[in-house]
Amino acid sequence: MSDKGLTLWFTGLSGSGKSTLAQYLTPKLLELGSKVEVLDGDEVRENLSKGLGFSKEDRDTNIARIGYVANMLARNGVIAITAAISPYASLRRAVRERAQARFVEVYVQCALDVVEERDTKGLYKKARAGIIKNFTGISDPYEEPEHAEVVVNTGEETIEQSAEKVLDYLRSEGLLNETADSAS
Ligand code: ADX
Repeated sequence: MSDKGLTLWFTGLSGSGKSTLAQYLTPKLLELGSKVEVLDGDEVRENLSKGLGFSKEDRDTNIARIGYVANMLARNGVIAITAAISPYASLRRAVRERAQARFVEVYVQCALDVVEERDTKGLYKKARAGIIKNFTGISDPYEEPEHAEVVVNTGEETIEQSAEKVLDYLRSEGLLNETADSAS
């Protein structure tokens, strides 16, 4: 077992593929001997952040909570993958500053017209119709990361390519527990 804990902080629009990428990476990281936990935005909002809405204040609270838990996991040797929109640069910076283990920000980029076209949950349509207010990318801000350690683009890459970019970065920084047959 590796004890190289870290926070792998995914940020990006709703529908950009944060959760999908997190789920895709999890078995690969487990195979490499890492301990992994995923803090998925939708799941967190059903549990840890139940009752919170989408005002800036509530989003900031949500992100601070996710950062707090991810940090506890990371400092205990777990790769904590977070998959929340985390639209505000200030809160992403705050969780990074509080991190007691390595903090790796992954910008899961995807053009707005692509996520809108996907509209996996049907929410963009509702946001455009004004049925959902303050929807990220439509009627609420998304502040793009300027210094993310890894940038993937799920509209232009396959999931394998995006995952490989993340794994390549972790490898290059010596953050993976490499074994002889770990060419993923
Ligand atoms: S965050 O802004 O606090 O990081 P989080 O990732 O937890 O957001 O939740 C985003 C998910 O909540 C979206 O993928 C979508 O399914 C749902 N959602 C509901 N209302 C909104 C909204 N106004 N803006 C963004 N996402 C919303």
